Formats: sequence, C-alpha cells, structure tokens
Amino acid sequence: MRIGVLTAGGDCPGLNAVIRSVVHRALVGHGDEVIGFEDGFKGLLDGHYRALDINSVSGILARGGTILGSARMERARLREVTDNCAAFQERYRLDALIPIGGEGTLTAARMLSDAGFPVVGVPKTIDNDISATDRTFGFDTAVMVATEAIDRLKTTAESHQRVMVVEVMGRHAGWIALESGMAGGAHGICLPERPFEVDALVKMVEERFSRGKKFAVICVAEGAHPAEGSMPYEKGEIDQYGHERFAGIGNRLAVELERRLGTEARPVILGHVQRGGTPTAYDRVLATRFGWHAVEAVHRGDFGNMTALRGTDIVMAPLASAITELKTVPANRMDEAESVF
Ligand code: F6P
Repeated sequence: MRIGVLTAGGDCPGLNAVIRSVVHRALVGHGDEVIGFEDGFKGLLDGHYRALDINSVSGILARGGTILGSARMERARLREVTDNCAAFQERYRLDALIPIGGEGTLTAARMLSDAGFPVVGVPKTIDNDISATDRTFGFDTAVMVATEAIDRLKTTAESHQRVMVVEVMGRHAGWIALESGMAGGAHGICLPERPFEVDALVKMVEERFSRGKKFAVICVAEGAHPAEGSMPYEKGEIDQYGHERFAGIGNRLAVELERRLGTEARPVILGHVQRGGTPTAYDRVLATRFGWHAVEAVHRGDFGNMTALRGTDIVMAPLASAITELKTVPANRMDEAESVF
C-alpha cells in the first residue's frame, strides 16, 4: 500500500513519535510505502511531499514539533481537495491518508472521508479536549511544563510577597489549568468552563495573607473569563480560522488583583513553551500506539475513523464523534480541585 501522512493545526509534543511509528509499522510490518506531506494539508494541495523511510524517522522519537511541518488552513482551500478527491488520490497514488491533528484537522479529515478519501485520523492536542478519546498525546507534556512553572513561581512569589497569575493554554477546555493547577498546588484555578469571581480570588489572597502566607499563585486558562460584572472585560474578535483572539486574561487579572489588593501581582504567560520541546514518556508511548493502530486500521480498511484511547486500550472511533462535542472539564472535577485551595 502507499500511505500518506501529514500533521496539521497547532503542533504538539508527540507528533514525531506518531510519524515514526506509522513509518515503522507500515514499512517493516506490511512492506508499504509512506509519503509525508509538508505543512499539513497545504502539502497535499501544493504537491509538497517526500518519501519517508526508516532512516528519515531515526532519532525523532524524543524530538518536539513535527519533522513534516504543520499549518492551519482555511476551509475554502480544503474544498479544493474535497471537490477533487479522486484526482488527488490518483495524483499521489494513495491508498490511504493519515492526518494527525486536533479538532480542525479531524473536521477536515471527516470532510475528506465523506467525499470518498480513505482516511484514518490520529487525534492530537495539548488541550485534551477531544471527546472521543480519554487522552490526547501532548497534554501530559504541557501539564508537566506548566506544573514546573508553578513550582518555580512559588519560590520567587514567596520571596517577594507577590501574587503570580500564570496563564496557560486552553481555549474552550481548562484541562491544562486544572491539572497543572492541582499538581502545582495553585491557590486559585480559573477555567473557561466556569466564569470566575474576582471578589473570591481577592478574598482568597487576603485570607492567605492574614494567615501569614504572603504569596499566592493563580493558574488561569487563556480562555477563562470573569463572571459578568466581576471586572471590566471584553471578548476578542474571531480570526480567519474561527478562533477567538484572546484579550490576555492573565495580564488583565493581574492588573485587577494588584489594584484591589494593593499587593504586587505579576502575570506570567506560558504560551507556546507548553507545546515545545521533548514529549514525556507517557506522550511518546501514546503517540507510538496511535501510529501503530492507525496503520492497522488502514490495512483493515477501517476508514472514516480515528484512533482513540479508552481506558488502557486503543480503539477506533468515528471521526464524526471527535468533532461533535468538545470534552470540557466537568463541574465535579473543579469541585475536587477547589477543596485543596
Ligand atoms: O489547540 C492547541 C493550542 O495550543 C491552544 O491551546 C492554543 O490556544 C492554540 O493552539 C494556539 O494556537 P497558535 O499556535 O496558532 O497561536
């Protein structure tokens, strides 16, 4: 068989581990050929691809990013492929395509599949918000990076009697904020799922200071927003990929807390640090398993599906189930976190 693979959307630690696994399983396990499209669906559209052999994936398991490059693409351009599926399949002599990506990429994968392209998806996102799988690779690494940042910020915050507001990624789902906040022992966690009350945060800091604890760390997801009337805040505009441009909640909250508390409050925006660098062992293993199962699915003709983790097993889930509903943080997980603030 001749299998195409591409990585699209925001990058994520573990992408290279999937590519490596796909190449090994396909070439060694089945005698297939694998080609890698560059910069996501753009490579498919523009004819930018290269053959992947065992040597080309050697030494990439521990490498962050993606050796194939990644890009977001507007829906209109993708229609050039969905409208001409047979021609694209013929052009590259493809028997299957394995797109590795998040919600946007899996939506695109579903469009291709509906249009007749033989597609097996592999989900990825540091946000861990794809409902059809218990976990996505990249998440564990992001949580580890954010937890380490919180640990480090605590010691400097304490030295200077400051409040630190750590902003982590998470547009619609606050999994990174929840788990790094819990693991790092943050004193407040703000998630997109539950508008936060600034008054409650002020009270929490005052209460800590009254007990002689002269610092606090608050972990806030980039997509979190204050409860109506809690502090001045306007939502950002929507960009060309349908994503909200964030208004910088970390900065805004730090300014507001400093104003109300009369205590220094500093924002720390972790940003893309959470996505860069080497994946954790957990993410490498999950990514490798996803790659292996994606190739097996191709050989079974199990198209229109994606790999998913259920418990400890890898199963196949319909691409449609990946994109119908985001996996957000349920209220009971937030209650558990709050009990140790
Ligand atoms: O979806 C993954 C993610 O890392 C989000 O957490 C974040 O909001 C977004 O991508 C950032 O995208 P970009 O790299 O395009 O700024």
